[in-house]
Amino acid sequence: MTPLTQQSIAWIPRLTEDGSFTFFSEVFNETFHSRQGAKQEAFLKFAQATDLESRSQQSHLRLLDVCYGLGYNTAAAIETIWATNPDCQIEIYGLELDETVPRAAIAPPVLEIWTPKVQEILQAIAQHQVCKLPHLNAKLLIGDARQTIQHLTDLDFQADAIFFDPFSPRRCPQLWTVEFFRQVAKCLAPEGKLATYSRSAAVRSALLAAGLNIGTIPMAGVQRSHEWSQGTVAAFDAGRLHPLAQMEQEHLQTRAAIAYRDPDLSDTAATILTRHQQEQQACTQESTSSWRRRWGID
Ligand SMILES: C[S@@+](CC[C@H](N)C(=O)[O-])C[C@H]1O[C@@H](n2cnc3c(N)ncnc32)[C@H](O)[C@@H]1O
Repeated sequence: MTPLTQQSIAWIPRLTEDGSFTFFSEVFNETFHSRQGAKQEAFLKFAQATDLESRSQQSHLRLLDVCYGLGYNTAAAIETIWATNPDCQIEIYGLELDETVPRAAIAPPVLEIWTPKVQEILQAIAQHQVCKLPHLNAKLLIGDARQTIQHLTDLDFQADAIFFDPFSPRRCPQLWTVEFFRQVAKCLAPEGKLATYSRSAAVRSALLAAGLNIGTIPMAGVQRSHEWSQGTVAAFDAGRLHPLAQMEQEHLQTRAAIAYRDPDLSDTAATILTRHQQEQQACTQESTSSWRRRWGID
């Protein structure tokens, strides 16, 4: 069977549990957001996890939105920052492969979850790939993030917050490799934070191998045994992170922690997955199922 390379149907909004919409990708066979709530995810796992409310007291904030998609992480960040300090000057770069996604996201009802100001910004970004306002300078770079990130490293762009939101590692391994994280880490300011929804051991060990420290995004409220974290935050300064629990640390000693590799930042997903599988088979570390049994994870 020929693999799908392009979305063959239009982007159809799907309702999530907080009343906001998401899309489903046929190519990656995955929805763009958690079904518990797309908008809620943008605030909790990205804006809040990178401390944007407290950091908005700064006169200037620089943001990097890796996998811009519908623009929700950018939108939640702007709303969070300007709710506290409307004078904060925001500079944003978004990286996105498929320009049809942000375009589809500026049609009703998807766009209507944002304030009128943010709606205008998302429209300008989707239509012109740039938005310039007195307190905002946003640019969307269309293409494979493994290449477009080079533009930012050339500029020596240093982000105070990085939102890292590709499809899951099994569907899109090319954006979760040690080599790509090294490029992304070059764009993180010394005091900055990178946040992602992923709590995968392979992702966490790739972040460590890229020279970053990692912390967890703890669960809020009641949790079941398999819900041990809502994601990962990475930074150069370990002191500003929520430490991993013992079971999360031990997860990093299992086979699940073998990182994805992409030596020249140009391999296909299939090549990266095959390499990863071979490395896992050759490794003598504890199996992930044994770790799960030890910690009573269903
Ligand atoms: C999970 S969605 C991102 C959701 C988005 N942050 C939002 O809030 O709507 C992943 C996005 O990554 C994009 N993508 C996939 N492969 C990419 C690549 N190699 N480079 C850049 N973007 C990519 C997809 O087109 C999709 O929009």
